[in-house]
Amino acid sequence: MPTIYQSLEADHRHMEDLLGRLEAPRGQAGFDHVGRRRLRDHLVVAGSRHEVCEELVLWPAVRKRAAGGEALRAHALAQERDAKHLLDALRFATSEEEIIDLSRQVGEVMRLHVAFEEAQVWPALRSATTRIGARMLGAKLSLAAKVAPTRPHPRGPDSFAGLLMVGTPAAALDRLRDRLARRRGSYPGRSSTAGWPDAVAAVERDHASIESLLAQLDPAGWGADLEAGGRTAPDPGLVNRLIREVSVHDWVEREHLYPLARRRIHDGNDLYAHWIAEHGAMVEILSEIDRRPEGDPHRRRLLDRLIPLLRTHIAEEESGVLPALRARMADEELTELGRTLQAAKAKAPTRPHGRAAGVGVGARLSRVVIRPLDRVRDAASGRDRPRG
Ligand SMILES: [Fe+2]
Ligand SMILES: [Fe+2]
Ligand SMILES: [Fe+2]
Ligand SMILES: [Fe+2]
Repeated sequence: MPTIYQSLEADHRHMEDLLGRLEAPRGQAGFDHVGRRRLRDHLVVAGSRHEVCEELVLWPAVRKRAAGGEALRAHALAQERDAKHLLDALRFATSEEEIIDLSRQVGEVMRLHVAFEEAQVWPALRSATTRIGARMLGAKLSLAAKVAPTRPHPRGPDSFAGLLMVGTPAAALDRLRDRLARRRGSYPGRSSTAGWPDAVAAVERDHASIESLLAQLDPAGWGADLEAGGRTAPDPGLVNRLIREVSVHDWVEREHLYPLARRRIHDGNDLYAHWIAEHGAMVEILSEIDRRPEGDPHRRRLLDRLIPLLRTHIAEEESGVLPALRARMADEELTELGRTLQAAKAKAPTRPHGRAAGVGVGARLSRVVIRPLDRVRDAASGRDRPRG
């Protein structure tokens, strides 16, 4: 297990490498604007995750153990706040010039901050911590990395409570606190001992499949290339697969995952309402896409609205409800739920149904009627067979 310094140092060098490439002038970078956007996305994720991990592990340790820890922490957090604002702006930058300009500004702030941490903070902590202590902090850090949000939250205070305020589901943090307090073994196991995917692995598997379709439908990544104009019509075969996979996934989560998560995790009722509302919004757009003929140009615009919603929702689930369930359910229960989810997929509706997307007896009944009809329609139109 690496020490906390080794892990943080690896992050710092990785971010510096990304920044160096992002700051390169147009035409001299060895990649085009699509490549630059991808690098930008990597930097936003890496930077946000790194700072959150420090907030959860490094700063509490510095404050508690290092001489002058409180002042070191205050100085570093002020630097981090500036970096977070710039990272947030960089995340939404669209033109290549804007990305280069903001990367240089981020670079300036981040390099100063990294130098401060390495030259002042680490030595202060080192002199107050044993080598074993540094390894234990390293273990905590790798645990924190698994639940850290992947987007910057500039307005959030720098604490667990702050993360709650900016919307990271409470349960994920409860889970992390529980784990840190008990210093239990490694996290997370991805599948059951029987080799059957447990519920978390099954949902992540569906997400990976949906994300791979999104990558094919929107190769430019976050904030599609709208300003460049001339967006090509989406491949109808890919759109049909997306409709099918998201409809099935929506059903499975709504029927089996969310009701259970609502009972098991902290603030479950509020989160449940949030998940259902997000699914409702996505299903509405999906059914609008489904209703339009394949060559309709409006389909592209609808997809451009849907894709960021799906990506954000998936990212939130993977940093929120899934780790929370992993922490609160026994391995056997998760395996059993995984079986239920797999079985439910075989029976789920394969088309979006805006009106049936709600909750309650009426919606449930209408879905029971809809499900077999979808399968008949898919078979008749050839949607249940891959194109090629
Ligand atoms: Fe930092
Ligand atoms: Fe750092
Ligand atoms: Fe979901
Ligand atoms: Fe999901």
